[in-house]
Amino acid sequence: MKRDQNIKNDLIIRTLMGEAVERTPVWMMRQAGRYLPEYIALRNKYSFFERCQNPELACEITLQPVDIVGVDAAILFSDILVVPQAMGLEVQLIEKQGPLLPDPIKTAKDLERVRVADVDETLSYVFDAIKLIKQELNGRVPLIGFAGAPWTLLCYMVQGKGSKTFDEAKAFCYQQPEVAHQLLQMITDTTIAYLKGQVAAGADTLQIFDSWGGLLSKQDFETYSLYYIRQIVAALKDEVPTIVFAKGAWGSLKEMADTGAHGLGIDWCIEPHMARQFAGADITLQGNFDPAKLLSPIPVIEKEVTAMLKAFGPGRHIANLGHGILPNVPVDHAKAFVDTVKNFRHA
Ligand code: CP3
Repeated sequence: MKRDQNIKNDLIIRTLMGEAVERTPVWMMRQAGRYLPEYIALRNKYSFFERCQNPELACEITLQPVDIVGVDAAILFSDILVVPQAMGLEVQLIEKQGPLLPDPIKTAKDLERVRVADVDETLSYVFDAIKLIKQELNGRVPLIGFAGAPWTLLCYMVQGKGSKTFDEAKAFCYQQPEVAHQLLQMITDTTIAYLKGQVAAGADTLQIFDSWGGLLSKQDFETYSLYYIRQIVAALKDEVPTIVFAKGAWGSLKEMADTGAHGLGIDWCIEPHMARQFAGADITLQGNFDPAKLLSPIPVIEKEVTAMLKAFGPGRHIANLGHGILPNVPVDHAKAFVDTVKNFRHA
């Protein structure tokens, strides 16, 4: 296992490895983003993919929440959709709407337009950003690298845009399972090379985001998602600790723990003791504050975060939200979340 000995605050790495820690570590999914005025300032000057592709900008945005909110880890500023882009699909980000892929995958013929990416050729800007971020972090906190899970990427590559149900992506899987599996395997192969590149560049831990895992039945989650996540975790788990976050898929926590991942993200719809029961004692749980609760008055946030920490109990817990931070959360509310965790000690 690779480990950067120069990290001063390595609480997150130690927690993932099941080692003793003085307190619960904390970070927030989507912590580099629109709730920060400093992010908005850069957003008004550069397009989304410019921000991702320019290592200096990506570095500056990555460090913002570390400097401003005081989280215990940085997460690379990028997006899960750079992988479909690297595989050959056009991806746009439309203001106030979200991602748009104008020519989505619908048939076997469309697979001719995508390939397993040569990541050193197509995604080297990410590796350059990681090297720069590690240099600028100078060992303050670990850097989390990430990728989308193959199922969640298929959702966008087939549906072509965001959706509440991703019905077209599901219909694609159910009507053309062989084509779906070919595409999922291509995404998986690209993702493994991409994450290995992130580790080689300096990422200290990796998170796999399966934002739409919870749209599938337990059996279909196994078939279309976990089968591929398992390959990714197997390829990386001996390099750095890995965290799997499959939102809404808590019915498969045991199976996800069995992949050999070091951490599992959970959302706010499952109680910590139930998640622990499903996942077993030998894995770190990450979560699970309702992101919308950060809109409550600060004393309510402090009380509810304390209750969450008590519910998880000491050890093998990384405090986080149950999904990404919302753009309308006041910065001092995000700080209250982080500070409450940092000031809490288990009795
Ligand atoms: O966590 C971080 O701070 C690191 C950066 C990060 C972004 N996207 C930046 C981003 C990460 C880890 C992601 C992951 C991501 N991207 C996921 C998985 C996590 C999740 O939230 O479910 C998904 C599904 C996407 C795809 C995506 N990118 C969507 C649906 C959108 C539009 C909706 C939205 O939240 O804005 C994006 C755009 C995006 N990615 C933004 C940011 C900061 C906002 C766009 C902007 O600022 O112009």
